[in-house]
Amino acid sequence: MCCDRNMKIFLIFPALWTFVQSAHILGVFQMPSFSHQCVFQPIWKELSLLGHQVTVITPNPLKDPTLVNLTEIDVSKANYQIMQKHGFQFFMAKEQPVHLKIQKIFELNYELANTVLSDKRFIEVYNNSGVKFDLIIAQTYISPILYAVAAKLQVPFVGVASMGGWIGSHYALGNPNPPSLYSEMFLPYHGRMNFSERFRSTLYYLWSRYYLNFEALPKCDQIARKYLGNDIPYIQDIEKNMSLLLLTTNPILYEPRPNVPTVISMEQMHIKPVKPLPKDLKQFLDNAKEGVVYFSLGSNVKSINIPEKLRKVLIEAFAELPYKVLWKFEADDLPGKPENVLIGKWIPQQDVLAHPNVKVFVTQCGLQSVEEAVARGVPMVGMPFIADQTRNIQRLSEEGAAVGLEHTTLTKEEFKNAIFEVVNNPKYKQNVKRLGEIWVDHPLPSLNRTIWWIEYVIRHKGTKHLRSPTADVSWFEYLLIDVILVLLTIVSLALFILYVAIKFILRMIFGGRKLKQN
Ligand SMILES: *[C@@H]1O[C@H](CO)[C@@H](O)[C@H](O)[C@H]1NC(C)=O
Ligand SMILES: *[C@@H]1O[C@H](CO)[C@@H](O)[C@H](O)[C@H]1NC(C)=O
Ligand SMILES: *[C@@H]1O[C@H](CO)[C@@H](O)[C@H](O)[C@H]1NC(C)=O
Ligand SMILES: *[C@@H]1O[C@H](CO)[C@@H](O)[C@H](O)[C@H]1NC(C)=O
Ligand SMILES: *[C@@H]1O[C@H](CO)[C@@H](O)[C@H](O)[C@H]1NC(C)=O
Repeated sequence: MCCDRNMKIFLIFPALWTFVQSAHILGVFQMPSFSHQCVFQPIWKELSLLGHQVTVITPNPLKDPTLVNLTEIDVSKANYQIMQKHGFQFFMAKEQPVHLKIQKIFELNYELANTVLSDKRFIEVYNNSGVKFDLIIAQTYISPILYAVAAKLQVPFVGVASMGGWIGSHYALGNPNPPSLYSEMFLPYHGRMNFSERFRSTLYYLWSRYYLNFEALPKCDQIARKYLGNDIPYIQDIEKNMSLLLLTTNPILYEPRPNVPTVISMEQMHIKPVKPLPKDLKQFLDNAKEGVVYFSLGSNVKSINIPEKLRKVLIEAFAELPYKVLWKFEADDLPGKPENVLIGKWIPQQDVLAHPNVKVFVTQCGLQSVEEAVARGVPMVGMPFIADQTRNIQRLSEEGAAVGLEHTTLTKEEFKNAIFEVVNNPKYKQNVKRLGEIWVDHPLPSLNRTIWWIEYVIRHKGTKHLRSPTADVSWFEYLLIDVILVLLTIVSLALFILYVAIKFILRMIFGGRKLKQN
């Protein structure tokens, strides 16, 4: 009896195991930006190490020859050129109205999708190869065009984002997203919104739904059909078929919200164990007993792009600081570089932040940079430029883990004072450590959770059983317009009947009296 049971377990498990072991997975990643792709790289690497046969098209390949089960189609050249042409860091500037940002992101995505879908090596994969894929993983960056590859191949797909979700994604999965409670991630509102914030949030929401339905989605659909043929469903129906949406969120920068079961959060995906520093950098940091200010504006904004006026303020302030400064500056030479400043075009940021002499990180507050600072326990001075950076620094300041600055009006004194405040007041360090502990406190590490969910989709060939009915509710039903109309009708009818009855009774009483008097 006992042996019989063991036997069965023995028979069942290998079958399940080998199936998941040998899945064919296709990854579609279009957005040329290191801070986006570094979130996804560990996913495709880990899946290939687990024995899956993984093919990805990406602008940031790992190019690691030891990953024998991974095939990477490199689209860095074309996609980075497109990014450059569109001037991402300019149209995403925090001064730009949010609806223009969304329009520009769609326009950028149209062009990226064109290059990806017309790439000969990729066409080989999606159109001609005999391989039957089990799963598609596609980057979620506002536009759904590339999800259409999954519809073409009739394979379940998982969306992954290097940040929170936007209105269109929440809508597609049926995630509750009332503009009174949750504003768009590119709007700097959070927590309980006041009237004017709710007003703007609502206008923006209405505009988004209009723009999506009548302009963006038809265009996305057209592009998908151009390459994948006419026998695919409408692009929004494809998006609604998403098996899983993996978002890079956390309870500090994104307010907690109710999510349908197919929306899963991951965090600090790109954080790696601390590695030894290059010799010159190590020497510089080791010798800086007085403390180090680390300055970087990340891979999208870049120090080289900032206005001359701001650069002058930074240089003058750095020269007067009693600390060493390590500046990620993307050129060989910095004219007027003070004695105490070391520049580097590329800096192993996670390892530098782990050095005990680094006292403060001056950052643009991009999500991935913030995750690194929090993981290494370094308090921040935040200088937001684009995208979600404004709301990130607002949240961090409220948590007492950072001081925020406005770069357009920044003065030397302000900048120096902010640095002194964060270096000398121990509360910033304590708070950033506290956030770090909350951020990663989960039953399983983020990468393990993510892989588990991806394999879950492969095992069950999609997640139809988890699909929330909220995904199919129309706005009419959601706002209870029909119920309210019926209720109003009933109440009006009741009031009318009451009115007639009272009138009748009054007439009976007074009418009768009048008669008697007469
Ligand atoms: C490659 O995949 C096979 C199974 O498909 C697995 O046995 C092998 O360990 C994998 N190799 C590496 C280096 O990931
Ligand atoms: C895909 O293959 C079909 C036939 O196998 C061909 O007609 C079509 O042109 C191909 N599409 C692309 C984009 O190459
Ligand atoms: C939804 O996905 C399944 C595969 O999981 C596919 O067979 C089906 O055609 C898709 N439907 C739409 C509308 O995309
Ligand atoms: C609402 O919040 C905004 C900041 O987003 C602020 O500028 C405004 O003064 C607030 N309005 C009221 C009435 O509190
Ligand atoms: C997480 O995944 C890694 C790599 O597959 C594995 O070595 C580790 O044991 C896992 N951790 C847990 C807690 O499951």
